[in-house]
Amino acid sequence: MVWPAGEAAFVTGAASGIGLGIARALVAAQAKVALADIDGPRLADVATELSEAGGAVTTVELDVSDADGWEAAADRAEGALGPISILCNNAGVNGGGAIDDTPFAVWRWVQRINVDAQFLGVSAFLPRFKRRGGRAHIMNTASMAGLVPMATVGAYVASKFASVGFTLVLREELRGTDVGVSLLCPGTVASRLSRTAEEGQAKLLGREPNAAVIEQNGALQAQGADPDRVGEQVVQAMQDRQFLIVTHRDWESLVIGLHREIEGTLADFDGRYGTDLSVQMMLGGVNPVAT
Ligand code: NAI
Repeated sequence: MVWPAGEAAFVTGAASGIGLGIARALVAAQAKVALADIDGPRLADVATELSEAGGAVTTVELDVSDADGWEAAADRAEGALGPISILCNNAGVNGGGAIDDTPFAVWRWVQRINVDAQFLGVSAFLPRFKRRGGRAHIMNTASMAGLVPMATVGAYVASKFASVGFTLVLREELRGTDVGVSLLCPGTVASRLSRTAEEGQAKLLGREPNAAVIEQNGALQAQGADPDRVGEQVVQAMQDRQFLIVTHRDWESLVIGLHREIEGTLADFDGRYGTDLSVQMMLGGVNPVAT
């Protein structure tokens, strides 16, 4: 059997878009899947579809930002499918506008779901992976917005840069172990993201969703990559223990632009403060904070 056949995965945001694409690809690869999402009705439809396709699946209705919900969710998933060895922290939301036009409630909503929840997911499952030993994998969905600063979505960009940082550290901490780490940074993918963004914010702020915004953003979103193909790409990447997963080449110049600015600033600086002991220790393979 080729990995991940026979393994059990926990996928958040599995009721739609990329999470659903990952779940479908995992089922096609003969993995068992715990489908986790806050959207109960959609989750039920997805479970029916995947069961009818011969998949071994179970549903876990979970608000991923609920710190008290994760252990019970993990227990439920493992009770139904056996030990989980693959965690896909994929659920996410977009929200807010320009930074001075973003209510703090929206800012926190985005950070809680896009970043805090990835920490909570890892906190629930990584100790189980370590205790049991054997091959396991953690995949976090960030975004190209975690590598490139996009104007007018500051809350989202801040959350995705945080997700990238979190996942890079996770990779360092798990280097040389049986727990693989992957980071998905998609460009635009055809999903319900713009709809859930507007509906979620409307609920949060006690107003009606703006149908024009949903239609306009939805039309752009619909032209994105096929989420099922992205799901297949993710499963292949996890199988290959590939770290960074991207979906659109045309972000390259923007990524390079930011990194050139960093390189240029460092190269032009006169080094007036001399040697930095912290970086010397890191270059020698020592974490200065832990010592
Ligand atoms: P989607 O809106 O189609 O799917 C997201 C799923 O997450 C939904 O089923 C939703 O119910 C669920 N969800 C939202 N809040 C939740 C919560 N608190 N607890 C549990 N589940 C929750 O969107 P999509 O595009 O599939 O998003 C998946 C991930 O991909 C997100 O992290 C998103 O930021 C990321 N992404 C998406 C891109 C795109 O263009 N679609 C581009 C880059 C990243």
